[in-house]
Amino acid sequence: MLRTHTCGELRRKDEKKTVSLCGWVQSRRDHGGKIFVDLRDRYGLTQLVFDPEHGKEAHKKAEKIGREWVLKIDGTVRYRGKGLENLNLPTGEIEVITNTLEVLNESLIPPIDVNDETTAGEEARMKYRYVDLRRPIMKNRLMFRSAMAQEIRKYLTGQQFMEIETPLLIKATPEGARDYIVPSRVNPGKFYALPQSPQLYKQILMIAGMDRYFQLARCLRDEDLRMDRQPEHTQIDVEMSFVEVEDVLTMVEGLMKHIFKTMLNIDIKTPIVRIPHETALNEYGSDKPDLRFGLKLQDVSDIAKHTEFSVFHSALDKGGVVKCLNAKGGATFTRKDIEELTDLAKRHHAQGLAWAKVVSGKLESSITKYINDESQQKIIKKTEAKDGDLLLFVADKKNTACLSLGQIRLAIAEKTKIKREGFKFCWITEFPLFEWNEETQKWDPAHHPFCMPIKEHMQYIESDPGKVHCTQYDLVLNGTEMGSGSIRIHKPEIQRQVFNAIGLSQEEAEEKFGFLLHAYEYGGPPHGGIGIGFDRLVAMMQGLTDIREVVAFPKNKKAEGVMDGAPSTVTQEQLRELSIKVDGLKK
Ligand code: AMO
Repeated sequence: MLRTHTCGELRRKDEKKTVSLCGWVQSRRDHGGKIFVDLRDRYGLTQLVFDPEHGKEAHKKAEKIGREWVLKIDGTVRYRGKGLENLNLPTGEIEVITNTLEVLNESLIPPIDVNDETTAGEEARMKYRYVDLRRPIMKNRLMFRSAMAQEIRKYLTGQQFMEIETPLLIKATPEGARDYIVPSRVNPGKFYALPQSPQLYKQILMIAGMDRYFQLARCLRDEDLRMDRQPEHTQIDVEMSFVEVEDVLTMVEGLMKHIFKTMLNIDIKTPIVRIPHETALNEYGSDKPDLRFGLKLQDVSDIAKHTEFSVFHSALDKGGVVKCLNAKGGATFTRKDIEELTDLAKRHHAQGLAWAKVVSGKLESSITKYINDESQQKIIKKTEAKDGDLLLFVADKKNTACLSLGQIRLAIAEKTKIKREGFKFCWITEFPLFEWNEETQKWDPAHHPFCMPIKEHMQYIESDPGKVHCTQYDLVLNGTEMGSGSIRIHKPEIQRQVFNAIGLSQEEAEEKFGFLLHAYEYGGPPHGGIGIGFDRLVAMMQGLTDIREVVAFPKNKKAEGVMDGAPSTVTQEQLRELSIKVDGLKK
């Protein structure tokens, strides 16, 4: 090693030791004669002193050095002296009086300040990621991520899970996003897909008798990016044989308990509450409810029936519902506030948003003339409304009413700065197996086509797909989907029915997933599993919403690697080798 110690290591007990340190120049201060340098590495900062009376040559060299230069020094540890200690720094009692200085490398003036308060823009931070990552806050985030990966491995291997890598060059996986594809040179005109997840491979590992598999799996999806979505992400990917829903949930709860305890010293209470999908939609207007606050939605259709309000009636006549949200204390909202909420509801496909303030135990708004006293009192009772509250109504198809009011619920929580603290998990269970695609006028798998339907609904798979719920479960934390999984279909005849329901012919199924279906012909065990978003979990546990903050080299919103310039063009020669001709480029 070029060094005897790291920059975070020396203490008062090391006084008088001769040491060698290596690191980056955090700062240099010239105090008329003596030069003070803070030398930084991953482990901390140590103050160096260059004193011409002690090391003339080293002092001379130190006059020239700048921020982020890389140095190696030899020197002696000494106590800084009473009143001169920096108690904020673990090494703050000592300094190293330098004998020799070797400049290992110079640095241009850094484009980003290497401190936690940097104001650098996103693109600069990505372009100069190697400088950005030197900031202690970024280093700590990656250290947290690394430690957490080790805890996950420790826990799962302790539960007899085997870590198995699955291929990156594969046949497409059906996770619902677009595939990234890779041309095959030796098979002209043919392409690999990069895995959206190892789904089919982990199922095949169960057929292969591995019993318990996990992987910190890289998953690649060509989809529109958001704060919690990257084109490449990592999943804690798990699959288990001979299990039922409860077995997988219990295993994941154990894992969460372990991670939160070891990483944050937080005790997660288990079992985590299970909420059927239907209930989540009805009560929170979301399949990923934030349980850190209440504001539950109420169904007031029965009461709305007895009002004179035509908006309510027209929704109910079409088989819809009237949902209501009590925005606690919202009577102070201005007309503009309510307009904003109405726009939000409309963006989520609601026709509009009706409202009424609660004043002196009665409803007050332009619609109250259509609602008689008795109905008003019933609404107030059902929504547990008090003076000063604001009631918001959406009358629409059930899904639209729930989902739009669910968004309003979140907006109200934000607007009223409702207390949202801690970590509130829930499981959402019994998802619909299919969802209707208006565009293609077909049923699509709501998750992927390998989720086992629940027993009682098997009979409707082909006759009434909308009625079928399945064994899918989502792990939700503070309103974010953290993971998703299911018990898989292991019986070919059920699988065939599901393919039929989504309009996948025998030939298409064979072409797409034939290798999985054939594997089942040789004895597939009942199995199930889950994929948990590792980046999302690491981010949320550190109080972050943007997963790019916990990814070493993230992509920007256009899925570009700003630092390396990916994606880029390739040479004509490479294209020729791949039998690819690029033309008709979209602007
Ligand atoms: P799913 O597609 O729901 O399930 O993904 C599982 C979890 O992975 C995370 N995630 C993402 N994180 C960051 N960026 C993305 N683009 C991204 N996409 C997904 C989410 C999500 O809950 N094979 C199934 C799992 C299974 O059934 O076992 C799957 O991939 O936290």
